[in-house]
Amino acid sequence: MDKSAKYGYFSPDGKEYIVTRPDTPRPWINYLTNGKFTSLCSATGGGFSFYIDPGFNRITRGIPGELNLNDRPGRYLYVRDNDSGEYWSANWQPVMKTADFWEARIGLGYNKITSIYNKIQTEVTYFVPLEDNLEVWDVKVKNLSEKPRNITIFSYVEWVLGGFSKDLADRNFDSFFNDVYFKNNTIYATKRRWDNPVKRGITWPYWAYMGGSTKFDCYDCVKSDFIGEYRYLSNPIVVEKGFCQNGYGESEEAIGSLAKILELAPGEETSFHFVLGIEDSLEAVNKKLKVVTERSWVQENFKKLESFWSNYLDQLTVKTPSPEFNLSVNVWNKYQTWITAQMGEMISYFIGSGSWGFRDENQHLLGVLPIDANLAKEKLLELLEHQNKEGNAAHAWNPLTNEVYQTEHSDDTQWLVLSVCTFVRETGDLEFLNEKVKYLDEGEGTILEHTLKALDYTLYHVSPNGIPLRLTADWNDALAGGHLGRGESIMVACQVAANILDIIPILEKVNKKDKARVYLNIYEHLKKTINEQYWDGDWYVRATDDDGNMLGTKHNKEGKIHINSQTWTIMSSLASIDRGETAMNALWKNLMTEYGSLNLTPAYTKLNAGLGIVSQFAPGTKENAAIFYHPNAWLIIAECLLGDGEKAFDVWQRTSFLTRSKDPDLWLVEPYVYPEFSYGPESPHFGRGSYSWMTGSAAWFFRACIDYILGVRPALEGLKIDPCVPKEWANFEIKRNFRGATFNIKIKNPHQVNRGVKKLFMDGKEIAGQILPDVRKGSHEVEVEMGT
Ligand code: GLC
Repeated sequence: MDKSAKYGYFSPDGKEYIVTRPDTPRPWINYLTNGKFTSLCSATGGGFSFYIDPGFNRITRGIPGELNLNDRPGRYLYVRDNDSGEYWSANWQPVMKTADFWEARIGLGYNKITSIYNKIQTEVTYFVPLEDNLEVWDVKVKNLSEKPRNITIFSYVEWVLGGFSKDLADRNFDSFFNDVYFKNNTIYATKRRWDNPVKRGITWPYWAYMGGSTKFDCYDCVKSDFIGEYRYLSNPIVVEKGFCQNGYGESEEAIGSLAKILELAPGEETSFHFVLGIEDSLEAVNKKLKVVTERSWVQENFKKLESFWSNYLDQLTVKTPSPEFNLSVNVWNKYQTWITAQMGEMISYFIGSGSWGFRDENQHLLGVLPIDANLAKEKLLELLEHQNKEGNAAHAWNPLTNEVYQTEHSDDTQWLVLSVCTFVRETGDLEFLNEKVKYLDEGEGTILEHTLKALDYTLYHVSPNGIPLRLTADWNDALAGGHLGRGESIMVACQVAANILDIIPILEKVNKKDKARVYLNIYEHLKKTINEQYWDGDWYVRATDDDGNMLGTKHNKEGKIHINSQTWTIMSSLASIDRGETAMNALWKNLMTEYGSLNLTPAYTKLNAGLGIVSQFAPGTKENAAIFYHPNAWLIIAECLLGDGEKAFDVWQRTSFLTRSKDPDLWLVEPYVYPEFSYGPESPHFGRGSYSWMTGSAAWFFRACIDYILGVRPALEGLKIDPCVPKEWANFEIKRNFRGATFNIKIKNPHQVNRGVKKLFMDGKEIAGQILPDVRKGSHEVEVEMGT
């Protein structure tokens, strides 16, 4: 049997992943979000919802650990056959009876679950509309039998209504503040007391609700009424008996359950929907309900969602000889970049309830930038507002209260320089640099001033050797040891160097040639120092500790070689081609596995104070010698810069979720998105995927594919064409919008090379060089012949 099809497959147009059995090896989830209201929804309807912030505005419950183990609770629909008394779940969970037919379609912005049990067909589509702060459960029920059927449908969610950690740690106490009742066909829910990081003991300033388009027959708001003593979600007393208790959730652990009795003639189908949402007053809830309980509203809003996604996907499309590459770049990798840009890595089935991360969001916005520059700009402005006057930035903040977590991570500011430069190259908008943005602490500055301060902040925090200090940690959060703060980071040095190369042409354009010259000198200094002192003969070292010991050299027993110092010395052109190739050989020899490159090897096995957490993770786990995906995308870029299209594509293939999910019982996580890492060979779980969805891998793989493998990437003067592909790729295409123009680029590779542009034509006219003219409007046919 084809193992990859064990749990599902992609629809022919690639826009849905169709899960064919509910017992996937981990819950496979989707993010239904409009950027404010978010529902994490698994293929069986598991998961929870929140508004803006999953930590302090949790609407419904999700329990860390349980989420990935049994995926409960969720947003459920119990179905009861009132003639036989038998009951089951439209979603499979939580009753888990085997249906005669069951499938879940994971779509772009929705999950649709269809099941047939005892000749009753149910279909529920969960989605979050683009504009309203609610989720829809659109339900269809059909009697497939030849006799009339009497059915009751019970909805079910568990309310949190505010602070998630309170709910986890002290739920009984927190429940005393619940105010949950049924009125006018709706369950209204709020909390009388709420703490957030800046204010304590206030009333939760929202009302959550569950309502619907049909007249409900009865309801439950109290969990113990619904489930019953010594019972579970899988056998609730109310569903077993078929009668609601109609209780109010005053000071009780509260739920929302609305029941509807349906009498269905043979072949009859009926449809209605539930809405579960949030507003800031009861009046606003009632106003919203008037609109969103109309059946036509649901249909219109689902259509709007579909057209949003088909338009989004259409902005950048590729056609290559690899169907998997096409499926990834055209649909799912692209989809994940949008979701990660909206989420800032706050929350997943693996991540508890985080905050908005400065470094992460700077990288996520790179994934949406080629498609929706306005969205990227919105995110970038928010990041700029979280930079201090001195140049450093808030490492993270709470999206609701804007409470800031200030650390001394040494890489944060450098991501801002990267995203500003990439934004300017994308849009060609130098005026953007003159826009004024407030600093987090005081005053304001132009975006150029912000950017230079970001670059300079790192340059003021260097070792006597002129190498940036590692401080709290660099990109590798787990390299967090060395409390004297004297240790150095070669990765941050490379980021500074790459940023200098990016910003110099921009500075020259805005008449800041003197500043450009200063940076060039710094670049030269870094190049000399790193090549003379941080090259161990076979590869680049990764860092030093407080005592000046080198980390990531052949002289170490553990953590001899790290991936990032090899790739980033190439990405910043600090490595010569020769050195780069030597470093890459060392990487392939020491770090490469069948599933991609390890972050480092061998794993650390005991606490090393100079390194910190990385040395405490179990060997082969997370940053400690696992296959961290994010750096594998940088590896693709490095290989392309060296011109090795075979190796670049090889890395893409080994690491792609499409490849890895061919063995779903090993891989475990979703077959349609990147996870953060896969366990390394020193772990008993080698090859298992983990921490799916929230990872910078999404944006970086997307950029590695379009900018480097297909080689269509923005330069300041225009769109550069520099593909680096497997020799056997004879023809491929990319449609790329750029600065108001559309370029339909067709590339031929008749001489079977990896890299090199021999001829370039735009609209029939030959172009010298590799950069398309900056025409800013119209649709243009571009033909490229590769060769040397
Ligand atoms: C996680 C974090 C990211 C960090 C990376 C490496 O993905 O979200 O911020 O850079 O791990 O430690």
